Amino acid sequence: MIIRRHNRLFNAAFIMVRCVYHCKYVRHLSSRENCSAKTGSYFITTPIFYVNAQPHIGHLHSALLADASYRFQLLRGREFTLFSTGTDEHGLKVQQAATNNNISPFQYCDEVSDKFRCLFDAANIGYTDFVRTVESRHVEAVQKFITNLMAGGHIYQGSYSGWYCVSDEAYLTDVQVKEMTTSSGQKQMVSIESGHPVEWNKEENYMFKLSSFQNDLLHWLKDDGRVTPKRFLEELRMWVSEGLIDLSISRPRDRVSWGIPVPGDYMHTVYVWVDALINYLTVAGYPELKLWPPDVQVIGKDILRFHGIYWPALLIASGLEPPRNILCHSHWTVEGQKMSKSLGNVVCPHDRIEKYTTDGLRYFLLRESTTHSDSNWSDTRLVRLLNAELADSLGNLLNRCTAPSLNPRLEFPKLSSSYLQTIPESGSKLMEQLTKLPDDVEGHYCNYNFYRAVDVIMNAVRSANVFVQEEKPWELKNLQDRTKLDSVLRIALETVRIAGIALQPIVPTLAGKVLDCLGILSYDRLWDKMKVGFSREKQGYFETSSSLGRRTKLFNKLKL
Ligand code: MSP
Repeated sequence: MIIRRHNRLFNAAFIMVRCVYHCKYVRHLSSRENCSAKTGSYFITTPIFYVNAQPHIGHLHSALLADASYRFQLLRGREFTLFSTGTDEHGLKVQQAATNNNISPFQYCDEVSDKFRCLFDAANIGYTDFVRTVESRHVEAVQKFITNLMAGGHIYQGSYSGWYCVSDEAYLTDVQVKEMTTSSGQKQMVSIESGHPVEWNKEENYMFKLSSFQNDLLHWLKDDGRVTPKRFLEELRMWVSEGLIDLSISRPRDRVSWGIPVPGDYMHTVYVWVDALINYLTVAGYPELKLWPPDVQVIGKDILRFHGIYWPALLIASGLEPPRNILCHSHWTVEGQKMSKSLGNVVCPHDRIEKYTTDGLRYFLLRESTTHSDSNWSDTRLVRLLNAELADSLGNLLNRCTAPSLNPRLEFPKLSSSYLQTIPESGSKLMEQLTKLPDDVEGHYCNYNFYRAVDVIMNAVRSANVFVQEEKPWELKNLQDRTKLDSVLRIALETVRIAGIALQPIVPTLAGKVLDCLGILSYDRLWDKMKVGFSREKQGYFETSSSLGRRTKLFNKLKL
């Protein structure tokens, strides 16, 4: 799987490189097969974040999707893993931001990069590598990669003209731009996709022969599991089928000085998007790759073209395998509008962590969003959801069943098989839900449908509350009813145990609190221990009891 073998192919003839790619393609795992692999290595990436602006919840969202997927894979027993994130620090946009702030690009990048790292630490993003594009390991990787592309005959020098969009750091064609009248009445050309202004540019560039990779890309995109969700896969297939034009991969230094020199030509810097994409190779140790290809690359829909066309084509040209799967997510809007500094509607993640806790914010971002459509931020909705699900449903169930008044021995008690003969319908329904839950949740996690995973978990918790309400354990406190009381408590606490294990990828601290309360040891928190009735001594049955851990309040109700 690791492509050390590939490195030797860099200078081989183009035709041979393609042949190797196709052979590997046939053998390599699709994203779904890859998700069903429960052990072995795992490599997941987030985009690297521009340092021209402060981090907001949209950025955190990209990182959080990767974090939840990564935590899920760790729980399933993945061993050799890589989870990378970082900051994208070169290019005209950053150069201009530093100038506007009257500081050197170095100092400017240090400051903003730290803010991203600080946010990810506060949000409990468990990355294993944080890469900055100004690091020497990255500069070396970029130069090596471009040198190899040049040696393979994939780069030529040419004159390039087109509409350049500084905000998107991309050249656009005539059909991708339109004329707009600004509020001051001036005519301005803008990008149709992002709405950002563009300007006409003509310059000498190094060009990558992207146009010759159309068939390879269509072949790579044949696998339905290549890009999730499907609507973005279809969009990519359409773009590639429409035909590709060669990609300018450098900028003249006199225009963009804040960049990595093109190997052998100091007067040009590497195009910031090519520089940025290579970060994924840097973290894998390029050219001596420790792990390749990435199992999943998480990106937002605005950067699909770069990751779904340029990136796989660059990799194929270098004799490297493209990613197994791209998870492309939609955006967070505020009252239906895109979040932006100029509109003053940016939702600050630090502020929300302080108000709602780290896990409160994590829960809402993953519970309320879908990958296929945009989601709307609402503080009111967040407060209602967290109060209803974390405080009322899960918190109350745990609190009730571990209360000394109801559970004086502070036990995770036994379930008696005789009780199962008399269990009410609400209890049978709950047992059925619990039996199906691990597979259902696993399926949703594998497809990055976190909201659906939480739905399944919360439905079981709600059913457990209905069951407890019906069985009224508080009326069963005399001795004759003890078997029944224990059984009812066990079923309710079993629900909490299963919910606690299943929620770990989403809310690791809160789920840890749940499992601590139940006295569940750390090695009993892995995915395969979620099976209903799991016990260390007698696997697969409910015959044992154990002591509960220390009681704590799970989640304080929030005020609107
Ligand atoms: N630097 C490039 C990525 C290079 S990766 C080789 C970049 N950076 S970014 O900071 O602008 O965006 C980083 C991520 O944040 C992208 O996945 C983008 O989609 C995501 N988000 C930015 N705003 C967002 C929302 N409003 N909502 C959700 N995610 C959004 O692009």
